[in-house]
Amino acid sequence: MTHSVERASRVRLSYAGDQLSRMSGLRALMEDIAASTAGDRDGEWLNLSIGSPAPIPAVAEMWRELTRRAHAESFADAGQYGPSRGSPALVSAIADYFREHFGWRVGTENIVVAPGTQLLCFIAATLYAGPGRAGPRTVVLPMTPDYTGYQGMCMVPDGVAGVASPVIGEPGRRFRYALDLAAVARHRDAGMLLLSSPGNPTGRAVTPAEQDDLIRAAQRLDVPLFIDHAYGQPFPRIGPAPAPPAFHPSVVNCFSLSKLGLPGERIGFAIGPERFITPIVSCLSNSVLHAPRLAQAAVAAGLRSGVIDHVVATAVAPFYHQRRQLAERLLARSLPSDVDWRLHANEGGMFAWVWVSADWFDDLSFYERLKERHVFIAPGRSFFTGSPRPGGHATQCFRITLSVSEQALVDGIHSIGLALSAARPAQTASPGESRQPPGRPEHRKEPSR
Ligand SMILES: Cc1ncc(COP(=O)(O)O)c(C=O)c1O
Repeated sequence: MTHSVERASRVRLSYAGDQLSRMSGLRALMEDIAASTAGDRDGEWLNLSIGSPAPIPAVAEMWRELTRRAHAESFADAGQYGPSRGSPALVSAIADYFREHFGWRVGTENIVVAPGTQLLCFIAATLYAGPGRAGPRTVVLPMTPDYTGYQGMCMVPDGVAGVASPVIGEPGRRFRYALDLAAVARHRDAGMLLLSSPGNPTGRAVTPAEQDDLIRAAQRLDVPLFIDHAYGQPFPRIGPAPAPPAFHPSVVNCFSLSKLGLPGERIGFAIGPERFITPIVSCLSNSVLHAPRLAQAAVAAGLRSGVIDHVVATAVAPFYHQRRQLAERLLARSLPSDVDWRLHANEGGMFAWVWVSADWFDDLSFYERLKERHVFIAPGRSFFTGSPRPGGHATQCFRITLSVSEQALVDGIHSIGLALSAARPAQTASPGESRQPPGRPEHRKEPSR
């Protein structure tokens, strides 16, 4: 063991290797969770930090049937390498789907299928940012906080720059982030703009006006705008997305089947102008060759038959809507009323994003406190770029996933309430309020509903 560690420390990495071999954001946290829970029985810990979709029975049933058919009908394809752009059956199903549902004049030259949206964005960052003939270019995230996975995408240090979103308080323990367009425009070194909408972690979706503004900003900077619809329209529709995806010469739209219950099969695709899509196809052919073919066959059949749309409308969208409402009720009931905590305004998404507006609150210390109670949340700082200012907004937030079981949500939010009450300084505590000592996982006891 020591030997291998010593050997690893002597490995000579390239600059890109140095960058890519770092564990970014939540990945490091996942290691901590795995180490903390190793050897423990299922149910001893509540993990409200995960990003996996909920196991919704109708969704599982749909994929089971679609993959069964793919095995029966398309197994011969899986025995052959396929085109890097994607299997012809899926590429044409995607083109027809977007022509029919969005009226886009989209051809196969505008489409690329890949093993997941994460890889598509990574490839885009490699192609459009970093050192180049026009000088060093950055991946600009126009609305941070945003998906923590974007931060590991650049092969050079400081290659990803986040634009801090101004915080706007709203009545009733709500807040939201605004788009600082002027700050986006100041990033003259941008090589691409990238955002998720609805976003992870906030569920915030761009409005039609904001989407138009971002498109104009991308045009002025002469860079592609990548919009990641992993939670949005047309699937999985986890929360409302007021701005429909735009087919535009400056926009590349990324879509994923992961949050629709298929994260392990790694299928995502991008639609955009041929000039941006073609280099991505080449990059796939130089790296992973193509996405898995049986899963592509299953997705093609799901799009053509309309079953994906049906399951999204009848099972996925209602499921997360109800979970969000439950989480709101539980937070209101469980979190201390004399602490200024706020929830990002309800625009959907797979997560609840909580801001504790108090100078004594620190997301990492809170993570540790909750760990003592056998509960994991995602500390907020991972979703912001750069080093957080101690006591600043980036250290005052945390994310709770809504895709866990209802009971886990009930018990987990109950524990979060207790931990927050215990964390606040004595003078802010209400007299007589219960302060359960840490070290006892409350979720093993009778849950408070
Ligand atoms: C915003 C966002 N984009 C992309 C991904 C990864 O998607 P995929 O599984 O398609 O690579 C995630 C996963 O959590 C995400 O939250």
